[in-house]
Amino acid sequence: MHLSLAYRTAESLLAEIPSRWSHSRRVLEQARLLAPVLGADGELVAVAAILHDVGYAASVVDTGQHMIDGARYLRHSGVDPTVCSLVAYHSSSEWEAAELGLSAELSAFRRPPSELLDAITYCDLTSGPDGTVVDPVSRLDEVLRRYGADHVVHRAVSAARPALLAMVDRVAKRLTETGRS
Ligand SMILES: [Fe+2]
Repeated sequence: MHLSLAYRTAESLLAEIPSRWSHSRRVLEQARLLAPVLGADGELVAVAAILHDVGYAASVVDTGQHMIDGARYLRHSGVDPTVCSLVAYHSSSEWEAAELGLSAELSAFRRPPSELLDAITYCDLTSGPDGTVVDPVSRLDEVLRRYGADHVVHRAVSAARPALLAMVDRVAKRLTETGRS
């Protein structure tokens, strides 16, 4: 799926959730900034970035874990398998699937190459819920506040926090190194 079609698909699915659409557009902008680091994979990550949260659309919800639901919808629509994998595994998905008993459903998708998974997670965690650029530490704190301590997302994000911040750091380091060379 080309970026222009991915953009229109995400725009129509997320029209009912304006804040998710603002967030998704920022995630795409962050992906564009990573272009020098991503090289030939830049387009793939950009497509995954704009589509990463379509699993929140009411017509797409199935298991209730938005990463899996979005990836299933996209696979069904014939989208590139690596894009589906990036949507399936982005951010705290593996931890959330474990909490929800959906690890088998998640593993129906191949785990994406780690540099690309790091990249989409970096883009997601540097984009706030309203579409502003945010610091990943405050972003994770905001998610933990938004979902109460007994919510599955809260538990998953608490467990995932160190790994997620390490992913963000790896990308930030590559970005700095690429900028210097
Ligand atoms: Fe997101």
